[in-house]
Amino acid sequence: MKVLALNSSPRKPGVSKTLLMVEALVEGMREGGARVDLVHLRERNIKNCVGCFTCWTKTPGVCILQDDMTKDLLPRWLEADLAVYATPLYHYTVNASMKAFIERTLPVLQPFFEEKEERIHHPLRAEPPKTIFLSVAGFPEMGVFDQLSSWVRFIFGRRDGLMGEIYRPGAEVMTVPYFREKSRDVLEATRQAGREVVTAGAISPETMGRITQELVEDKEAFKLMGNLMWKSCIEEGLTPKEFYEKGLVPRPDSIPAFLAVMAMGFNKEAAAGTKAVIQFGFSGEVEGSCHLRIENSGIHTAEGPAPNPDLTVESPFDVWMDVITGRADGRQAFLEGKYRVSGDAGLLMRMSEFFGRRE
Ligand SMILES: Cc1cc2nc3c(=O)[nH]c(=O)nc-3n(C[C@H](O)[C@H](O)[C@H](O)COP(=O)(O)O)c2cc1C
Repeated sequence: MKVLALNSSPRKPGVSKTLLMVEALVEGMREGGARVDLVHLRERNIKNCVGCFTCWTKTPGVCILQDDMTKDLLPRWLEADLAVYATPLYHYTVNASMKAFIERTLPVLQPFFEEKEERIHHPLRAEPPKTIFLSVAGFPEMGVFDQLSSWVRFIFGRRDGLMGEIYRPGAEVMTVPYFREKSRDVLEATRQAGREVVTAGAISPETMGRITQELVEDKEAFKLMGNLMWKSCIEEGLTPKEFYEKGLVPRPDSIPAFLAVMAMGFNKEAAAGTKAVIQFGFSGEVEGSCHLRIENSGIHTAEGPAPNPDLTVESPFDVWMDVITGRADGRQAFLEGKYRVSGDAGLLMRMSEFFGRRE
């Protein structure tokens, strides 16, 4: 099987989630025995269709525009058995560079009108490759792909041309360490999907279930962490990419946000074998208490005091937020008397291990 895979994300490796997914799919296809070319549209010169219909009249089947599409990609697309369209979801549809590619496949059609199943359409000049469609989105609900999927089925689904649709909502969290295990499984399943497409001609429901599994089960946590991240980026004057490259942590602005950040930053390997309750009493801009219960490599968080905490930290809220976001050195702040602790001070020392920063 000869496959042409097209990635239309403008983002680079390490940031693009479309790329993560399409690379896994392509790897699986290669393992299944396919010959796959992966093309990044951002590196190619593909002009917009100008609607002149020269490809239907003066030079049938050949576009007048002289660019990478005419010279390289359209011939390769026509030779392929299967095309993979991998696009980020932009405004609930394909992004502009993917749309430009698709529009520029017009030469494959003939101008004439034919009627089939009570619809007028243009007959084909040549057989287009079969289709696998892949998209990733920022929002967490599967429903964000409804409009795109309906269009994809209409455009590519005729004559049994659509071999599969792969949609990954909430994709931005795939590089957040807290979601590491689930994200690995999503990528492994996407790789499996690639193998299945080549060897069985379809993606099994089990594999699809793993690809679309919930990453963020709690919508409230998704909103809380997402809003905190954007607020922190705006305050620091950084894009999300720059924010994470600097190893920064979203700055909590409330006790629930603090607990969510602690839960997401929890390093269960580092806390293996530890059983402890850590309580916080906050004062200043945010007042109140809360606690973290570490047990069996897991963490439970709750507002309010705990009955018998092993360690209690009493701190102005902004001081402790400076410490957890790396703005202040915890040891230095302690020596300067900016916060107080009682109980097992050894736990205080180990907190930076339990709540490691992002990779
Ligand atoms: C211009 C623009 C429009 C977007 N529109 C949507 C949208 O309609 N729905 C959605 O869930 N995410 C939307 N997003 C978020 C992207 O789908 C998300 O960031 C995705 O991870 C991008 O893929 P990439 O990382 O491969 O570039 C949009 C992003 C941009 C930049």
